[in-house]
Amino acid sequence: MGPRPHVAVIGLGSSLGDRRAALQLAVQALDALPGTRVTATSRIYLTRPMGAARGVFLNAAVRVSTRCSARGLLAACKAIEWRLGRRPAVPWGDRAIDLDLLLFDDRVRPGPGLTLPHPGLPSRRFALLPAQEVAADLWHPLLGLPLGALAVPPGSPPRIVGVLPRPDRCLAPARTPLYDRRHPPIGSPAMKLFLDTANIDEIREAHSWGIIDGVTTNPSLIAREGRDFIDAIAEICDIVQGPVSAETVSPDTEGIVREGRLLAQVSEHVVVKIPLTWAGLAATRVLADEGIDCNVTLCFSVNQALLAAKAGAAYISPFVGRLDDVGEDGTQLIEQIVGVYAYYPELGTEVLAASIRHPMHITQVALAGADVATLPFKVLNQLISHPLTDKGLAAFMKDWSTVPDNDITARVTRWLGDRGPAGKRR
Ligand code: E4P
Repeated sequence: MGPRPHVAVIGLGSSLGDRRAALQLAVQALDALPGTRVTATSRIYLTRPMGAARGVFLNAAVRVSTRCSARGLLAACKAIEWRLGRRPAVPWGDRAIDLDLLLFDDRVRPGPGLTLPHPGLPSRRFALLPAQEVAADLWHPLLGLPLGALAVPPGSPPRIVGVLPRPDRCLAPARTPLYDRRHPPIGSPAMKLFLDTANIDEIREAHSWGIIDGVTTNPSLIAREGRDFIDAIAEICDIVQGPVSAETVSPDTEGIVREGRLLAQVSEHVVVKIPLTWAGLAATRVLADEGIDCNVTLCFSVNQALLAAKAGAAYISPFVGRLDDVGEDGTQLIEQIVGVYAYYPELGTEVLAASIRHPMHITQVALAGADVATLPFKVLNQLISHPLTDKGLAAFMKDWSTVPDNDITARVTRWLGDRGPAGKRR
């Protein structure tokens, strides 16, 4: 028995290249996702460009029935956008294809990363008009009205330029990785770094360096600090403003779900960390279906990672160092999980390399394509150290001391003053 099918509405847009073909290919790619069917397509609307965009947009919407989680469907949409040629650009710029998750059941999720329902749905004509065509009967969970009853923001009459064709199953692409995380596309985000600690001083210091994306804790790390655990989690979330894993300790599904729901109320940044047991997987399914991100921990095999992804985990935490400790290859496990997940991006599970013991682990898991690595403060400090950096810096400073009038602040300020406001030297 898999997860029950969900109903979602996805808005499509394109302002670059063969816009009609891009919309059509996107529909086919969505329909080819496992457990997903496009059940209705809207007409195609011509929309004037907004923001930095210059090209005229074609907009449409589809309704899908899917067994993907909301995060999984979002990840699949991003992978389809990439495959159809979308590349990072200025916000609100022209784009080959844009897929927006507008509605997912009656799910309300404030974010970050995924906000449901899409905040722009009621106010953007180009999103609402096509969405009403495919989902007039679906309720907007925040406005308490079916989409069909929402007032369309004023504007000139919409220009319809065709109908988005229903997917042609014969042309549905065969299953191939949408992209290979071992060879990430240029412009994809770098591996995220989480700090593996519950020590507030370490977190504050690392956060001030501007390179920490989140934090992981576990019962041992919390116990080491000897302070109230929930105050600690709340404070860490306040500092980091990114995902913070807080682990459940109940042995049974009911207890894990109860603890997970409570922990998730502490902050929108809490990710519920759950041990990889049958009870844990069942709880992950329940919490993921409620829109709560889960980090399934204590993973030591590809099969365990597959189970966690199927249960809807937002993160899987394979323990690299502990595998090395027993004579296995922790990095190879990361590589294998990344390889397998690349075939199923719609699962949306990120590979979080844990139990990192030394700087080489970071290099290795980055080369293996991990989405995230969580590392102790000591290892983070070691990442920056290189004797040649120290030696090179000392030589630069020695040479600089021979440069006359070498106080940069004083000299540049004086030079700018001499140059005058018009940018010309007096
Ligand atoms: C983090 O998620 C893990 O709990 C942690 O990385 C385990 O590290 P260890 O094997 O060094 O205890």
